[in-house]
Amino acid sequence: MRATAIAHPNVALIKYWGKRDVQSNFPAVGSLSLTLSGLNTRTAVSFEAARSTDEVLINGQSDQRAGIRITRCLDILRDLAGVDSHALVESTNDFPTGAGLASSASGYAALVKAAAAALGLDIAQSKLDEIARIGSGSAPRSLHSGIVLLDIASGGVDEMTCRTVCEPDAWPLAIEVAITSRAAKDVGSTGGMELSKKASPYYQAWVDTHPADLAAGLTAVEKRDFEGLAEVSEQSCLKMHAMAMSSQPPLLYWSAATVDCMHRIRELRRQGLPVFFTIDAGPQVKAVCLPEAAPQVKAALSELPGVLDVLDSRLGQGAWVE
Ligand code: DP6
Repeated sequence: MRATAIAHPNVALIKYWGKRDVQSNFPAVGSLSLTLSGLNTRTAVSFEAARSTDEVLINGQSDQRAGIRITRCLDILRDLAGVDSHALVESTNDFPTGAGLASSASGYAALVKAAAAALGLDIAQSKLDEIARIGSGSAPRSLHSGIVLLDIASGGVDEMTCRTVCEPDAWPLAIEVAITSRAAKDVGSTGGMELSKKASPYYQAWVDTHPADLAAGLTAVEKRDFEGLAEVSEQSCLKMHAMAMSSQPPLLYWSAATVDCMHRIRELRRQGLPVFFTIDAGPQVKAVCLPEAAPQVKAALSELPGVLDVLDSRLGQGAWVE
């Protein structure tokens, strides 16, 4: 009853920020994301009859806070399998954890994939997406390859679908990840989203205008329209951060180096280079570009003071059992 799975993190171009309901962790908006190769979470799950609780080790450290949500996911899988043993979950990331690089997405994707395999469950992909979503709203996207759409049903029904809309080799984008801090963030996504929902005057406008952004992002992908995707992605990113900043107390995820990277990327685009930025709930900047522009983008970001490292990524595959 042991299995190991590997998942890549993902980065949303059309962002998810806000929950309809924090208990069920159902997102208030859909999202469009890139699954990132080259960055890996490896999670081993073993169900052991002698255990009295689930134990979670992330990068070798016990993590009781994450353990609560992990147990929720494991309970659903245990019920489906008719098993009541507790589990040891050992997860390692080969990139900074909890610093806006979507470690929760790859973490929960690898968790559900490994746990389902360890329990010998033959489970529908949509069910696995649903269980990963209960762990983290961005996690189902890491179960899928390439460019991924997480769509929610209209009319307030808590139903979602998650699927690849463009395979990695159908539009081979490159992603250069500028690391500006290796520290874990102060306010995690869940707390940040709840604060924005409660305290930002822009929250409702975000939810109301989101479907149009998602549709524009999807159309740009279908047409392989890089410039169109750049515009709507940067706007979705800036709208999300404007909402976070307008919460009370305000959430400012950027450092000075984050802003420098944004200016540099926009300057490169004005000079004709196919590149745009996106930033999640942390100070790292992801520069999405066409592969031929990647070396120049990497060089330009590397020379900025405050940029500690630039990681190369491409579109990657969804989580898999090792
Ligand atoms: C800014 O998926 O980490 O990265 O559901 O509370 O675990 P929880 O949130 P999480 O939030 C991701 C927020 C984001 C945007 C995105 O990935 O869509």
